[in-house]
Formats: sequence, C-alpha cells, structure tokens
Amino acid sequence: MIDNKKICLITGASSGIGYAIARALHNDNYRVIATARRLDKLTELGLDSNDLFAGDLNSPEFQDSIVDYTFDKYGKCDFLFNCAGTLEVGTIEDIDIDKLTSMIRLNVESTFRLTYKLLKLFKKQGFGHIVNISSVLGTKVRPTAGGYAATKFAMEALSEALRMELTGTNIKISCIEPGLVMTELHNEWKVHPKESMNIHEPLTVMDIVDTVRFIINQPDHVRIPKLMILPKDHNI
Ligand SMILES: NC(=O)c1ccc[n+]([C@@H]2O[C@H](COP(=O)([O-])OP(=O)(O)OC[C@H]3O[C@@H](n4cnc5c(N)ncnc54)[C@H](OP(=O)(O)O)[C@@H]3O)[C@@H](O)[C@H]2O)c1
Repeated sequence: MIDNKKICLITGASSGIGYAIARALHNDNYRVIATARRLDKLTELGLDSNDLFAGDLNSPEFQDSIVDYTFDKYGKCDFLFNCAGTLEVGTIEDIDIDKLTSMIRLNVESTFRLTYKLLKLFKKQGFGHIVNISSVLGTKVRPTAGGYAATKFAMEALSEALRMELTGTNIKISCIEPGLVMTELHNEWKVHPKESMNIHEPLTVMDIVDTVRFIINQPDHVRIPKLMILPKDHNI
C-alpha cells in the first residue's frame, strides 16, 4: 500500500454515472481505479494514467488484470462500484436479440464474475463494500423492457443472497435503484424517456453521487442493502 487512501475500483467510468462517481471520489481524496472501453474518456478523469484500464469488461482476463494490478500495487481494495451496463429495449417485433444477449452478458455475467472475484479477496482482507448501480427496473417491469429489467432483477437477487452470506462480516453490499438519470444511456432512442414518461426534470448524475456518498459514509454497524431514488414526476 503506498498511501492511506481508500481504494475504489469503478467500472463504466468513461461516462454517465460511473464517470461522475469516479470524479467525485477522486475529488474526495479516494484513489480511483477506473475502467471502461474508451481510454480518451477515462483520461478526462484526470487520474494517474496507471490507474486507467481501457478494455472490454466481458473479458475474464481483462478483469483479472485490473484486480491483480489493484492488489499488487495498493495491497487492498475498499470499494467496487459496478456501474458498467447497457440498456436494450424493444417490442417483440423490433427487439435486436444480439444486442439483448450482449446486454445480458455485460449486465449479468460480467458483473457477477467481477463481484465474486472481488468478494473472495474482500473475505481474505476482512473488509470491503460493493455498490451496484441497479435500477428502479430491478424492482418492477415495463412493457418492452423485460430483458433489461431481468438483468437488474438478477443483480438485486445476487446482492440480497450475498448480503445474507456476508451477515456478521465487515463486508457490505448495496444496490442503488435510480429512475431516469440524464446520461448517454438513451442517446440512441428515437423518443427520449423523459418525453415518453413525461419526466420534466430527470435525476442528474450528481443526485447519484450524493446517494453514493450517503451509502458509503455510514458507520460500520449500518447496512443499506438497497436505496431507490426517483425523479419527482416518476409515476409508475
Ligand atoms: N441513466 C439512467 O437513467 C439509469 C437509470 C437506472 C440505472 N442505470 C444504470 O446505471 C449504469 C450506468 O449507466 P449510465 O446511465 O451512466 O450510462 P452510460 O453513460 O451509457 O455509461 C455506461 C458505461 O458502461 C460502459 N460499458 C458499456 N459496455 C461496456 C463493456 N462491454 N465493457 C466495459 N465497459 C462498458 C461504458 O463505457 P465504454 O463505452 O467506454 O465502454 C460507460 O462507461 C448502468 O448499469 C445502467 O443500467 C441508468
């Protein structure tokens, strides 16, 4: 370990929620190890360039390289933020099955792999906190969004089982369940959900950062397994 900073590994750190968390925690004096595919965007975070990992999270070898680096260089990891995710929706006629299965691979398979990898190491070191960016759609479904909701239900199910497995330890696991947040996630949509859902003022990434700060600054005896955050116009 080269300093006393808390070490955070953040996926999906090149844009949106992950980027905002990475930036905020860096400013809060945490050491941030950031990963996503786009190196140019990660570079904008202003972190030590050795702490940036550009690559596809679906690769187990790539995941290993980030985790090995973290423990070899810093000797520990305090937080894993699972922010990487995609969103594929569509009607029975229109849904792109290849994109849907690719979403399932990232949101579920790759996220689960990294979660278990870190949890084994958290158990060895005796502490750690996993913060999952789930969704309000981890608790309810909507027509056309069944596949996406299923990935977030899966994240919620795993987190709840792990919380039980981790009872009495110093390892925490939390899911944040946001409603609509303004990020790149809906850039390709013909009609933005803020129009279709009539949400005049979506959440901002800073609303999610505030939620993260609340969750990670709780005393040791407190657990926050899940926390939903919605814009005021969210009505379903
Ligand atoms: N925005 C919302 O309304 C909302 C609401 C509820 C929950 N969420 C959840 O919040 C999380 C973050 O979403 P966001 O809104 O911040 O969207 P975003 O801006 O599109 O961010 C998604 C992140 O995932 C990364 N990513 C995508 N595919 C990847 C891959 N194969 N390997 C590695 N990284 C990959 C992207 O980076 P690269 O493209 O550089 O790889 C990007 O950094 C997602 O899990 C999403 O489901 C979002």
